[in-house]
Amino acid sequence: MARPQHLGWFFSRGFGPQGWDRPYLGWNWDWRRPDLYQQSVRDLERAGFDLVIAEDALSLGNADTLDLRVRRAYGGPKHDPLMLAPYLFAATSRIGIAPTVNAAQVAPYTAARQFATLQHLSGGRFGINVVTDVGSARHFGDAPPLGHDAAYDRAEEWIDVIRRLWHSWDEGALVEDAESGHYADGARIRSFQHRGKYFALDGPLNAVPFEDGDDPVIVSPGGSPRGLGFAGARSQVQLALAPMATAAVREYRARVHEAAVAAGRGPGDIRVLFVFKPEIVASVAEAERIVEASRHPSDADLLTVALGQSSDLETDLTAFDLDASVDPAAFGQHVSQGSIRGLTGGDTEAPLRELLTRKARKGRIADRDGVVGTAEEVADYIEELGDDAHNDGVIFSGDLHPVGVHRMLDDIVPVLRRRGILRQELGDGGLRANLFDF
Ligand SMILES: Cc1cc2nc3c(=O)[nH]c(=O)nc-3n(C[C@H](O)[C@H](O)[C@H](O)COP(=O)(O)O)c2cc1C
Repeated sequence: MARPQHLGWFFSRGFGPQGWDRPYLGWNWDWRRPDLYQQSVRDLERAGFDLVIAEDALSLGNADTLDLRVRRAYGGPKHDPLMLAPYLFAATSRIGIAPTVNAAQVAPYTAARQFATLQHLSGGRFGINVVTDVGSARHFGDAPPLGHDAAYDRAEEWIDVIRRLWHSWDEGALVEDAESGHYADGARIRSFQHRGKYFALDGPLNAVPFEDGDDPVIVSPGGSPRGLGFAGARSQVQLALAPMATAAVREYRARVHEAAVAAGRGPGDIRVLFVFKPEIVASVAEAERIVEASRHPSDADLLTVALGQSSDLETDLTAFDLDASVDPAAFGQHVSQGSIRGLTGGDTEAPLRELLTRKARKGRIADRDGVVGTAEEVADYIEELGDDAHNDGVIFSGDLHPVGVHRMLDDIVPVLRRRGILRQELGDGGLRANLFDF
């Protein structure tokens, strides 16, 4: 039997117009109503997935690139995924739900209270994807924004004080003795004072302790040295991105484990789950056809690639001349050099058409050259990561739309189950218990 792994779903474009610009828009779901997500998450639970992580962006970004975000609903609008969580819990009983929360968006006392409420309401199935982006700082009275590493420092203080609030009720504080009528013992509840660099507040929290001390799960997506430091010290799930190769996965895992050990924790305290968006097709012939067609993209294909890149780069590539090279000065000051290199690959000579053509190019997973493959071929790759790189698991990525979920999972779930990679069913002990039961 293959090594068992944890599977999850990254709700990648977040709680916005699901299916916009996709053929399945015609299914007529209303993205503003909960039924669409409830239907999807029920199917993910049936599939045996441990958790759903919901992306978020707090704002529409810079005023001068606003249209780029909303034109095709690529970067907004969005509802707040934290508010979606209770609806998803109500529709399911075992799967974990981890909305993205930026440590800048909500004060720690309020956050601790909201998170504690959701952890109790869900029977221990709640998690928080802690992010540190400072691009929306001006909406929060936070000007000038913090730098990259300082935002992580603030997030660490935020989560530490949230935890302190969660644990402000000592052992024995909750009495719950109906016979004597004694509910709780105030002498065992600590009124601590926190005076930190970023936050000043007093405890205790007006919430009862979690059963078995089972805090909500912390998810971390940052891959920089500072981001991995945060993960090593604070999180239970690292949302990892790495090139498609066993060696790269092994190396990424080693860096997370080193960070955990440096923080006084063990490698077994954190699950490293790789985000992966396979294109699963019915046959090898179809995979070959798709890969071959991608070598000769139409102008419409290039426009689709340009739109996605424009949103990521906050620069309207569709207004550039397709047959001229790209001037790095055309990008705003705030666009990272890494993102620009992601488009150009360091090639300053090639015309935009050539760069977009390279981006449009697909490859076969069987050749470890891309993500297109049959369910068996994709399962081969996942199995290899488990057996050769001791991988903990994989997070598929896409809309939280039943059509997208089924397209990705219909064929691969039975294959992964048959091979023993995917569990038969989720346990009922909550998210942390599921993540750490193997
Ligand atoms: C898979 C993945 C998912 C992410 N999801 C979000 C998100 O939903 N919202 C957000 O603001 N940032 C998100 N981020 C960005 C990270 O929070 C972080 O800002 C970014 O990775 C830069 O941090 P780093 O320099 O430590 O890598 C995500 C990053 C990755 C790799």
